[in-house]
Amino acid sequence: MAQLWGGRFTKETDKQVYDFNASIGFDKRLIRQDIEGSVAHVIMLARQGILTENEMQEIVGGLDSIRRDVEDGKLSVDEKYEDIHSFVEAVLTERIGNTGKKLHTGRSRNDQVALDMRLYTRLQVLLVDALLKELLKVILNTMEGNLDTYMPGFTHLQKAQPTTLAHHYGAYFEMFKRDRLRMKDIFKRMNYCPLGAGALAGTTYPLDREITAKLMGFYGPTLNSMDSVSDRDYLIEFLAALSMVMMHLSRFSEEIIIWNSNEYRFVEIDDAYSTGSSIMPQKKNPDIAELVRGKTGRVYGDLISLLTAMKGLPLAYNKDMQEDKEAAFDAFDTVKDCIALFTGMLDTMKFNRERMAESAMMGFTNATDAADYLVNKGVPFRDAHGIIGRLVLYCIEKNTAIDALSLDELKGISDKFEEDIYDAVSLKTCVEKRLTVGAPGPEAMRKVIALHREYLEQEEEDWFPDTAEEYEIHCEVVEDEKIF
Ligand code: ARG
Repeated sequence: MAQLWGGRFTKETDKQVYDFNASIGFDKRLIRQDIEGSVAHVIMLARQGILTENEMQEIVGGLDSIRRDVEDGKLSVDEKYEDIHSFVEAVLTERIGNTGKKLHTGRSRNDQVALDMRLYTRLQVLLVDALLKELLKVILNTMEGNLDTYMPGFTHLQKAQPTTLAHHYGAYFEMFKRDRLRMKDIFKRMNYCPLGAGALAGTTYPLDREITAKLMGFYGPTLNSMDSVSDRDYLIEFLAALSMVMMHLSRFSEEIIIWNSNEYRFVEIDDAYSTGSSIMPQKKNPDIAELVRGKTGRVYGDLISLLTAMKGLPLAYNKDMQEDKEAAFDAFDTVKDCIALFTGMLDTMKFNRERMAESAMMGFTNATDAADYLVNKGVPFRDAHGIIGRLVLYCIEKNTAIDALSLDELKGISDKFEEDIYDAVSLKTCVEKRLTVGAPGPEAMRKVIALHREYLEQEEEDWFPDTAEEYEIHCEVVEDEKIF
């Protein structure tokens, strides 16, 4: 047992209590953020004359050696300590002696952990965003190559009207683009620094919270010290946005599972992304898509855990809040894996274009267009609807398609049908005539695709960093100028 407190206690902590209370088993992954926060803190303490320049140099040197040794695998986190904050401080003091004990001046573990979590989460927001961007690129590439890949569009999972693969994928482009906008939005709202809030009521040391905020790439300090140590809204918002990402991935997965089924055969998932059965040699299962769908529930669970943990907490810090970590880390890891694997699966999936077109042809997806044809010949829409209904029934009885009937058979149902009906209800015409914004007609789709390309390219220059590395470099560059 190794803890940062004990002065006012007359008994050792019970071993089981110690273990129950300890968080090092999971907060050890915050070590880089913990060191980053401590470095910023002591630089500020020295600038404010609270530590001497030499003390600051010594501490920063010590912290840096810990960071390097952890990164090089020379030092591993010793789980006998209560939490990652205690571990870092103990190793620091071991390495540089008594000066190490000055690190925690003007700080509490409450603002320290609030900072560590915020730094870690901020990085995750960027990583998720970068993964979503890769997914959007794969979706857009498929859209560009499949403007005339016909397939049935469904409502109630019943064939409804013809559409194209480009159009269907375009729906997912919209969803994941909105997910990215949510990341950006969360980043902007959360990028304020809680360090300096102390335990709950600030400190009596003349801390400069602007400096620490700036050193770590924050827009500025948070404005209420009680809120600073007890706010986990940003985490909940992020988990809600991640739940939405998973919901989108799960819907897409469900479709791919259906499309990949023996009955549909619209797609074939690459061998590298499928698995076999131990008993049935013919099987090639869409496990990745199924797992993504399955893991969605788990991420929702993480969100609900956190919402529930927070709902009854009085201000300010309560130990319940330690429960934020495992749920959040689980969600971060799960979602990143799911996006990456799903993107790979999508990128390597093959489409069976003939099957898709044939399926669109055989399901009366052109029935609406046949009704519209009659409307153009002067039949009121409601009557046309009835005529085509009878026509469909006739086709079902004869197990055929509308455009496979002879003109005589068609005229038997309505004398308005002429030779031009065949062109009017061909898949090509049905799709090409749908030219309103957002519709599958290739001309309409081309305009939307151009906008998407522009969005993905223009966005490279946006203030929101594209990758975590870029962000890290950016943080190193931030000196005096407040870029964010
Ligand atoms: N392990 C704690 C957490 O994750 C760190 C903060 C501890 N603060 C305290 N007052 N015990 O929330």
